[in-house]
Amino acid sequence: MRVTMIGAGYVGLVSGACFADFGHHVTCVDKDAGRIAALRRGEIPIFEPGLVDLVATNIQQGRLEFSVEASGIGDADAVFIAVDTPSRRGDGHADLSYIYGAVREIAPLLSPTAIVITKSTVPVGTGDEIERILREERPDAETQVVSNPEFLREGAAIYDFKHPDRIVIGSDDERARAVLAEVYRPLYLNAAPILYVNRRTAEVIKYAANAFLATKITFINEIDDLCECVGPDVQDVARGMGFDNCIGAKFLHAGPGFGGSCLPKDTTALLKTAHDHGAQLRIVETVAAVNEQRKRAMPRKVVAALVGSIRGKTVAVLGLSFKPNTDDMRDSPSIPLITALHDLGATVRGYDPAAMEQAKPYLPDVIYCGYEAAEGADAVVIATEWEQFRALDLDRLRCLMVRPVIVDLRNIYRADEMKRANFRYLTVGRPAAERYAETAMPRRRKTPNAKTIAALAEAL
Ligand code: NAD
Ligand code: UGA
Repeated sequence: MRVTMIGAGYVGLVSGACFADFGHHVTCVDKDAGRIAALRRGEIPIFEPGLVDLVATNIQQGRLEFSVEASGIGDADAVFIAVDTPSRRGDGHADLSYIYGAVREIAPLLSPTAIVITKSTVPVGTGDEIERILREERPDAETQVVSNPEFLREGAAIYDFKHPDRIVIGSDDERARAVLAEVYRPLYLNAAPILYVNRRTAEVIKYAANAFLATKITFINEIDDLCECVGPDVQDVARGMGFDNCIGAKFLHAGPGFGGSCLPKDTTALLKTAHDHGAQLRIVETVAAVNEQRKRAMPRKVVAALVGSIRGKTVAVLGLSFKPNTDDMRDSPSIPLITALHDLGATVRGYDPAAMEQAKPYLPDVIYCGYEAAEGADAVVIATEWEQFRALDLDRLRCLMVRPVIVDLRNIYRADEMKRANFRYLTVGRPAAERYAETAMPRRRKTPNAKTIAALAEAL
């Protein structure tokens, strides 16, 4: 099959490379000329585990190519649209200008029998409008418009794409369904369930799924608040809940609030759709509000850990991206956290294994460091649970900090281990561990030198 992917971002590039890996001939089109030039040089513009090799292999095999122009799509059987649908400034609706822009660009170039498939997350009824535009621009064509929402998660995108829990195909047209079945045949053979529904149903499934995931996270975050008041470890509670198959263990990790390029914008867009149609989604409304409060509450944990004012103190934040294994900074919980720490007068040193460059426009006042971020810090905050932060050499770390204080917003350590290592350790939803007493400190702050940087590199 010949497939064109419009948009070569997190979804378009991963989907395009995976379709090529299935054996289809894929052209990824992106209007960002710099991105396409980089891809043609073999450079991958995003951090996604496994993507460098997947793209390289498929370019080499002649199944994957990149273009700024959509001019070559005339022979494509399936044209996927995977452009961004961010929150519209001002009202939070999904901004569909990139979608409709792309449709108008491709309309004159499509083969009369091409199938146009929306992979971007779009509000219910968007497919109807795409169809209207195509009928207007191409009265001669029999183009079918399908909704095929994507459910991959960043950081695990290739695995998710190749092992989907389900593939949703929104179309009543038999020819369109047959083309999509052919595109996904390798997964279908692997027994991934394909769900055929009408287009509007597929559009709603995507938002409902994301809103439900957001609800599940927010639910455990509120149970976490309760645990902090009444004693149990929220992780034990989550485990006890998750063994129930009707609940499921996933998405029950308490943390600093959900972030990322999708859950926040998609819950907001779903609420706007509901309001427009006079429906009330009170649970989703509450989820969005609770999540905002949650993100704003995180700096208070740092203040509590430092027993009072943090003015003039130095805080090292480990992990800036919204989750591990991605460089994506969109709506990362680290942004409101660090902004508030700055407002409270702290100096923030930041380190992330992949997202440092992406973080700079969002967080210009951070002192970006390598592994030496914790050097001279009054507290370390673990904001994202990268593997690299799961086995810190605590003894070395303590020696390099001014105060042995760790605020772990992802609960990746055991409290008793931190207590043994003489850290004050604050988490979410678990009792604080404390052996370090404030009066025992402080040591003199040092400027990092090559030796301490090397020591930290080993410690982290
Ligand atoms: P992205 O910003 O990473 O990529 C979008 C790309 O589309 C950009 O490179 C942009 O230059 C390009 N583009 C925009 N208009 C174009 C046009 N007219 N022609 C060619 N290229 C154009 O976005 P993303 O994260 O890949 O998300 C894309 C869509 O997929 C969104 O609707 C999102 O909600 C949805 N989605 C994202 C994820 C995810 O994990 N990121 C998962 C599932 C669904
Ligand atoms: C999310 C959904 O999980 C995907 O199914 C969906 O396809 C995608 O959005 C999308 O539509 O774009 P993603 O944003 O990549 O995927 O990341 P998640 O793993 O869902 O994490 C989102 C946020 O929730 C992160 O900030 C993460 O740290 C947080 N989270 C997640 C928790 O705090 N606890 C959890 O148990 C799970």
